[in-house]
Amino acid sequence: MTEKPDQVLVGREEAKAFVVALLEASGVSKRNADIVAEGLVQADLRGVESHGINRIPSYLARIRNGVLDPRAEPALKQVTPVVAQVDGNNGFGFPAAHLAMETAISMAQTFGIGMVSVKHSNHFGMSAWIVRQAVDAGMMSLVFTNSSPALPVWGGKSQLMGVSPIACGAPGGDNSIPFILDMAPSVAARGKIHKALRRGEKIPEGWALDEEGKPTDDPESALKGVMLPMGGPKGSALAIMMDVFSGVFSGSAFAGGVTGPYDMSKPGDVGHFIVALKPDLFMSLDEFKQRMDVFYHRVVESDKMAGVERIYFPGEIEQRTEERRLKDGIPFVQAEIDALNAEAERLGAAKIQQML
Ligand SMILES: NC(=O)c1ccc[n+]([C@@H]2O[C@H](COP(=O)([O-])OP(=O)(O)OC[C@H]3O[C@@H](n4cnc5c(N)ncnc54)[C@H](O)[C@@H]3O)[C@@H](O)[C@H]2O)c1
Repeated sequence: MTEKPDQVLVGREEAKAFVVALLEASGVSKRNADIVAEGLVQADLRGVESHGINRIPSYLARIRNGVLDPRAEPALKQVTPVVAQVDGNNGFGFPAAHLAMETAISMAQTFGIGMVSVKHSNHFGMSAWIVRQAVDAGMMSLVFTNSSPALPVWGGKSQLMGVSPIACGAPGGDNSIPFILDMAPSVAARGKIHKALRRGEKIPEGWALDEEGKPTDDPESALKGVMLPMGGPKGSALAIMMDVFSGVFSGSAFAGGVTGPYDMSKPGDVGHFIVALKPDLFMSLDEFKQRMDVFYHRVVESDKMAGVERIYFPGEIEQRTEERRLKDGIPFVQAEIDALNAEAERLGAAKIQQML
């Protein structure tokens, strides 16, 4: 079953192999290329196409423009038994965040908690893939990042804060799914506007204002204007929170200083804040899992408001999409495949393999 008959379907392994080949041809190590590809393809599988493999052309342009170092390796410094710092050394944000979460998990396994601050990093895509790394290791987690200015602070009219996602998670029980929250503090993520632009689509009113501060449904005008924070001052405060923990605290850029992934003028200098927590600190793991089962069922079986057919747990819609796409393939539009293949041609790498 295809999602739409006019779409091009690509399998998980084909998408990953394609990305790895492009990155290796651009000087990225096989290990780091695997980590970037996993993060991007997970986003496509989960239906977060705004942060999937379509990001590759802009990432490669950063390498070509000399503002992202493809050969950089993240460096780890232990600060206390439960605190470490990663210097991303201006390489891809994905391996820096992966090392940070790996280290946080390892500290949490011994001490119950691990906290890692990351500086001089770059865009790490969809936060949920890092939450997933913790869930797969049986850990609860917090995953924060800052990002380039796109959102005004409440009462302001110019871009100052990033549309920086707040993400966290906890493993589920035997009869439930993991809790995975991953949300931008704006009405919609900025990547969704880039996706609409790529696909020649309009955006819903209420997502963004144009340069003159007027509501717009045109993605191009929206990208020149500002994103709107969700919940007014509360969304703006969450964006500030992401920047205090990820930017100020880590030693990376903050308060409007991060360079966006589509700005080729200088390094990103993105900061992240990553915490892993052992779920069985206050009770047995079995009891924790049973409590998550109870929680999940109380949420999804709660009384529905008019017009709602099904209540979902945070992360559940994405998990269902992933299950479907692992079987059916990831849907792309032809223009996206053409743009990806143009990169392959330029680098002399193999074109993307479609599913038959
Ligand atoms: N790295 C960066 O700088 C950056 C910046 C912005 C956004 N992003 C990414 O963009 C992505 C999109 O963010 P978003 O805010 O548009 O996400 P979204 O609005 O699609 O989802 C936000 C959260 O709400 C949950 N949710 C959505 N619909 C639901 C429903 N009907 N019932 C129950 N739960 C539901 C989702 O599971 C998710 O946890 C995220 O993955 C984020 O990490 C990354």
